[in-house]
Order: sequence, then C-alpha cells, then structure tokens
Amino acid sequence: MNSYNSIASDVKLGEDVRLSKFINLYGCQIGNETRIGAFVEIQKNASVGSRCKISSHSFICEGVRIEDNVFIGHGVMFINDSYPRATAPNGGLQTEADWKVERTVIKKGASIGSGATILSNICVGENAIVGAGSVVTKDVPSNAIVAGNPARVLRFIESPEKNSDTDPVPFLDLVTPHLELESELVSVFRRGLRTAGFVGGSMVEEFENAFATFCEAGQSIGVNSGTDALRFALMAAGVLPGDVVLTVPNTFIATTEAISQAGAVPELVDINEHTLNMSVERLQHYLETSCERNSSGQLISLRSRRRVSAVVPVHLYGQMADMDPILRLANQYGLVVIEDACQAHGAEYFSRDLNRWMKAGSMGRAAAFSFYPGKNLGACGEGGAVTTNDAALAATVRMLRDHGQSKKYYHDIEGYNGRLDAIQAGLLSVKLPHLARWNAQRRDRAADYKRLLADNEAIGLPYEPSWSRSVYHLYVIRSRDRVAMIDHLKAAAIGTGIHYPIPLHLQKAYGSLNYERGAFPVAEQVSAEIVSLPMFPQLTVEQQARVVEEVMAFSSHSLQETVR
Ligand SMILES: Cc1ncc(COP(=O)(O)O)c(C=O)c1O
Repeated sequence: MNSYNSIASDVKLGEDVRLSKFINLYGCQIGNETRIGAFVEIQKNASVGSRCKISSHSFICEGVRIEDNVFIGHGVMFINDSYPRATAPNGGLQTEADWKVERTVIKKGASIGSGATILSNICVGENAIVGAGSVVTKDVPSNAIVAGNPARVLRFIESPEKNSDTDPVPFLDLVTPHLELESELVSVFRRGLRTAGFVGGSMVEEFENAFATFCEAGQSIGVNSGTDALRFALMAAGVLPGDVVLTVPNTFIATTEAISQAGAVPELVDINEHTLNMSVERLQHYLETSCERNSSGQLISLRSRRRVSAVVPVHLYGQMADMDPILRLANQYGLVVIEDACQAHGAEYFSRDLNRWMKAGSMGRAAAFSFYPGKNLGACGEGGAVTTNDAALAATVRMLRDHGQSKKYYHDIEGYNGRLDAIQAGLLSVKLPHLARWNAQRRDRAADYKRLLADNEAIGLPYEPSWSRSVYHLYVIRSRDRVAMIDHLKAAAIGTGIHYPIPLHLQKAYGSLNYERGAFPVAEQVSAEIVSLPMFPQLTVEQQARVVEEVMAFSSHSLQETVR
C-alpha cells in the first residue's frame, strides 16, 4: 500500500493483497493474494475473490462479484444499471435511491480481455474467456470462448479441472451445438415474434429450398414430423387404403405407423446381416414366392390377398439401403419406392447403375426426413420434410399437409394439419449450413471407433460397404453379452441406447399381423445383440477414448470369466 491510494476504512482486504498506485477502493472486499493494478476503482458491495489479477484502469462497480482465480485485463468496464439516467423524473439529479443495482458474477477461473465491457445482470461461467474489446450482453457458458460486439460463442475449451477419467459421457449431447449457435437461433425467434409469421411464409420456403439443394432433390416440402412425411409421401405416390407396403422389421415404429395411417398394411422382409438394412435377396424372394399377379396384372400378396403397391427401404443408423437392386426390383414389379431417410440426412450411395454418388432423398419416388431434435439435422421441436423430383407428387403433399387446400379455403381433397412450423424452419436454416461438417465429424468418430475397437473380437462393428458413405446417426455395435456390457458402461457413467430392442413383428401393437417368432431370424438375432455407443459431432477424442477403454475392459473381463 502507498500514499497515492485511496483505500476507505470499510474495505476488507485479504492477506498478501498487492496494490499498485492510484487505486480507489471503498466498501468492497478483496480476497487473499489478489493483485490490483494502477487506476483501478472498486466500489462498495463489490467483491473480488482470492488469487485474482485485476489489471490497470479497470472499473468494478457495485453489484459485481468476482470469484477466485479470475483475470481481468486492462480497462475492463462493468455496468450495473440497464437504464442509466442523469436526472430523476422530478428534474433533479439522480441519487442512489433512484437506481436498482443489477448483479453480475464472474465465476472462478474466468478471464476477461482488455477493453471488454460487461453489461449488468450477466454471469460469465467458470473458466470462460471473454475476448479483448468484447461487449458481453448475455450470460457466457462455462468454458466458452466469446468475442465481438455483441459477444458470441466461438468455441469451447476443456476445463483444466476436468477429470476426463471419470466424467460422464452422454449418449447424445444436444446442449453444446445449441449453445454454439445460440445467438443466431434466438434471432430466429425474434424474427418470428416481430413478423408474427408463425405458419408458412418465407422462413419455411427458404428452408425448403435449401434442404432440397442439400439433398440434391428437385423439391422439399416441410411437414410437421418424419411420420407425416412418410404418410403424405405414400398417399401422394398413390398408395391406397387396403394396399400392402413392404418394409423391414428393425426400424422405429413410425415407419409402419405411417403405412397404417395411409390406410395400408405393412408386410415385412428380413434385413441383411451385415448392413442391417433391407435384404435385397429377401425382397426378391418375397416378390417371387409370396406374391402373384391377378387377372388385371396387379401384384397380390398371398399372405393377405391385398394389392402390393410400395416398398419403403429404411436408411437405418445413417446408412442408405442398397438402392440400385431395390429400384430395379420395384420397377420390375410395378412398386413405388419411398425412402425412409429419417436417420440419414446427407448419407450417400454410389449407384453402380448411374455411375455416381447419390444423396439420401434423391433416389426414390419420394423420401421422408425427420427433424426430431436428436437427428443429424434436428429442430428445436418437431419437424419433417418430403423430398422428391416429382412435381405432381410435391403438389399433392403440399395440399395434404394443409387441409387439402390448393389455395385458402379451396379444399380439393380432405387433408391434415401437418405443416412445418415457421420458427422451426428458421432454426433448421441456421443449422443446415453446419450439417456437412457435423456429418464429417461423425464419420471421423466412427473411423476412430473402428480403428480403436478393431482388435476386440467379442464385438461386431458396423459394416460400411464401398458403395456407402454413412452419416452415422447412430454407432451400433453387436455384443452377445449386451445386458452386461450396458451395465458395465452405465457403472462407468457412459450412456448407451438400443435401436431397437424388439423387432416390429414381435411388438404387441402388431399382434394382428400374425407373424410368428422366427419369421425374420436376422432381425431377431440382431435386435438381441445391438448396443448404440455415444455418437454425436461434438464427442471429444477424450470422451471417445474413455468409451473405448471401458468397452475393451468389459470384453477382456468377460473373456476371463468365460475361460474360468
Ligand atoms: C427410421 C425412422 N422413421 C421415421 C421416424 C419418424 O420421425 P418423427 O419422429 O419425426 O415422426 C423416425 C424418427 O425417429 C425414424 O427414426
């Protein structure tokens, strides 16, 4: 301390606090070993923790609480009043009684760069970094690096206190991608509120155009879920009530629900044991042995005596079904192909027939996508889309989603309330430009899983044929000891999933389809063995290493048990 300073008698100074010159402190509290540079003012009821560094010319006003180990650069300004005024309503100068002090907290370990301004009512999270010259207008998440005016999250850093050996690894992290895009996402809400454009309009059209371009399809029509996308696509493609639609037993129930909701009946063919998608051989076998042509040349299922009109290959887990032979068979038997691409935004397939890579959603008569939040492209609520190159089909889907009207109050058919919400469309437009990068990150993580788990003979890894570029919506391995493996991973705080534990023909809901256990042996065997490991674009190398380590530890432990 020295004579150039003004330190009021009510200041609580900790031990070994080091003060420079020209410092003005009153009514505040400073923790042990903190260092304060020249020309700093700290007002009453402000507090600074231990081992902080407050650089010269910074202003820390009433209402600010700075926790331990915080770095404040030069000339940092805090503000504690959202509506500062010089005078009171009576015309006189404001006094303390006229303003309400708003609080600001800088959590431990954070750093505030020189020249930053921190508005009131803000919390800067633990270990966050605020770039020099930033204007912080809203809370900063822990470990975030923010910069700019207004400050935006640039990226996240690993917390130095993080113990990656024991930290939980979630099955899916839906928080981080939204924090990274928070300010852009929030401005979509603002645009919605300020224009009251909640249903239809430019936000929906902009997204539809961008998504059609992404899928390399002629058109995309936004609807309110993947289930509706599939239902409307089937109906618009000419599937009639009472028809049979072919699909697979190992998919989410929405695939068969949509078939039933279109008035048709699902009949199933087994899957390929490697790709876990529709088996071309089983489809061919079904068409050749379980169907006949009637006198009008229609294909009739021998099982149900109904007309077979469509096939729905599901691009499960992010990998496209083997579309060339499926399209050839469908063509030969006069069936419409509707892709269930709800898990495959951006997946690619090398068509040997067309000699080029094709995107999911561009190969069938139409395709259905889901924007359920956990999907590779997810809304912040429900959403879906149909893609197609067929303009007439697209026009019918547009009518079906909107009460069957071609223009307001002119109802050509009876339709549904199945529109994509405008705010969801706006949020999806913010996310869509990031999808290719997120998919590439998923593929990187999948390649790492493959490399790191390659020597583990107790598990089966996903199979990606040379004609496929999967987008790994899920990373699904196979284990004969699935329950114990999931328990082991759970005990190590690692999240897993099962997609799906009971094949559809054995679900209670489909008892009336009269399929026996054993009808689809591959799907039945697979559903008893599959485990989905953590997979999302922001999965860190450290988190993945922990998952791999625990899967390996489990396998070697269970191997020893078997040997014993
Ligand atoms: C394969 C598959 N089909 C259809 C759907 C239905 O999508 P939504 O939940 O948006 O209705 C989903 C979604 O989970 C799905 O995974």
